[in-house]
Amino acid sequence: MKIIKAKDYNDMSKKAAGIFFSQITLKQDSVIGLATGSTPIGTYKKLIEMYNANDLDFSEVKTVNLDEYVGLSGESDQSYRYFMNSNLFNHINIDKANTHVPNGLASDKELESENYEKLIKSLGGIDMQLLGIGTNGHIGFNEPNDCFDKYTHEVNLTESTIKANTRFFASEADVPKTAISMGIKTIMGAKKIVLIANGSAKADIIYDSCFGPITPNVPASALQLHPDVTVIVDEEAYATIAAKLK
Ligand code: GLP
Repeated sequence: MKIIKAKDYNDMSKKAAGIFFSQITLKQDSVIGLATGSTPIGTYKKLIEMYNANDLDFSEVKTVNLDEYVGLSGESDQSYRYFMNSNLFNHINIDKANTHVPNGLASDKELESENYEKLIKSLGGIDMQLLGIGTNGHIGFNEPNDCFDKYTHEVNLTESTIKANTRFFASEADVPKTAISMGIKTIMGAKKIVLIANGSAKADIIYDSCFGPITPNVPASALQLHPDVTVIVDEEAYATIAAKLK
């Protein structure tokens, strides 16, 4: 695990975008795993800037997103499909047919999950996966105490995640209670992983994920077992690591 300390959110976003820039430059038809949440928005902005400067071509890139809320259509502005379209896909030359997000409206969630795994396999696997992290250590929507051995599946969101995500909805009651998410096993199958985190609220969980025991209690701790993970954190998110290293 490589840990890169960035100065601030802007610097973290620039460094993360730079890594994806290199990946897509080296392999134009890369399969990129994407994440939602507030953390990656700056990274997507930097990638759009690179595209606008004619430095980056997404025409052959394929993407697979980590997760989607159950019950929301892609047109709903709280859905992760909508988030991806408005924060990235609408602004670059990617073919939307090459962008994939689980279908939150699928009537058979198990079948949708199986098909999502098949899709990832048919694309040749994920070359580079971007991750944010929840304050309880969740990656994608893999909540604490689920097992590491799962592929894409329907997950029950914990109360703390529902609370944390209420800010994007009109009220807590509107936050979906379940989601379809790549499992830890799917994420671990990516050839390279880049995890980004900023802000003091993420400091303890970043320390636990990178240096604590490897346990389903902290889903992101599974990443310690992956051979190619880069963690980019701003100074605030690095605080607990810095304090313990003193
Ligand atoms: C959601 C997403 C995660 C994301 C997390 C953190 O729960 N499913 O993929 O990492 O939020 O969000 P934020 O970046 O807003 O802190």
